[in-house]
Amino acid sequence: MIKIEHLKVRFGQVDVLKDINIDIGKGEVIALIGPSGTGKSTFLRCLNFLIKPTQGKITIDGFTIDAKTASKKDIYKIRQKTAMVFQNYNLLKNKTAFQNIMEPMITVQKKSKKEAEEIALDLIKKVGLLEKKMHIQERCQVVSSKE
Ligand SMILES: Nc1ncnc2c1ncn2[C@@H]1O[C@H](COP(=O)(O)OP(=O)(O)OP(=O)(O)O)[C@@H](O)[C@H]1O
Ligand SMILES: [Mg+2]
Repeated sequence: MIKIEHLKVRFGQVDVLKDINIDIGKGEVIALIGPSGTGKSTFLRCLNFLIKPTQGKITIDGFTIDAKTASKKDIYKIRQKTAMVFQNYNLLKNKTAFQNIMEPMITVQKKSKKEAEEIALDLIKKVGLLEKKMHIQERCQVVSSKE
């Protein structure tokens, strides 16, 4: 399902990822653990080319992208097959929790608004956050900064 071959990332003079090879099967749950600064986020960012690897091949769900030849189209395609929660969340601050879930489905996956709404509702219920549906992160910060 996910295959990583000879993945390398070099920042300046530092090799952050040195020849990573891993095969992850469908339904397998993997935890990456290690001290701060050892490259966990860098590895995840390579999976959808938020960081372009120095070298290596990534295959997700039968689609292979090679760092050496990756085109914009390839990168777009691999992004349609991946999703991540960022360490610092990176939410759209002027949008509600519900809109944050819907937005990628509409802009990246090209789902209709109606379909995205149905999926988002299902997901937000599943994680027990239905009452936070209309919550806006920015508003909360403004409120708390006045306190
Ligand atoms: N864009 C970048 N340019 C240069 N160096 C970077 C860049 N991004 C990360 N690094 C460096 O790469 C190394 C790995 O960083 P990374 O953020 O992947 O670590 P991490 O394992 O996710 O750490 P943490 O547990 O703190 O989240 C660190 O030394 C970091 O300073
Ligand atoms: Mg990290």
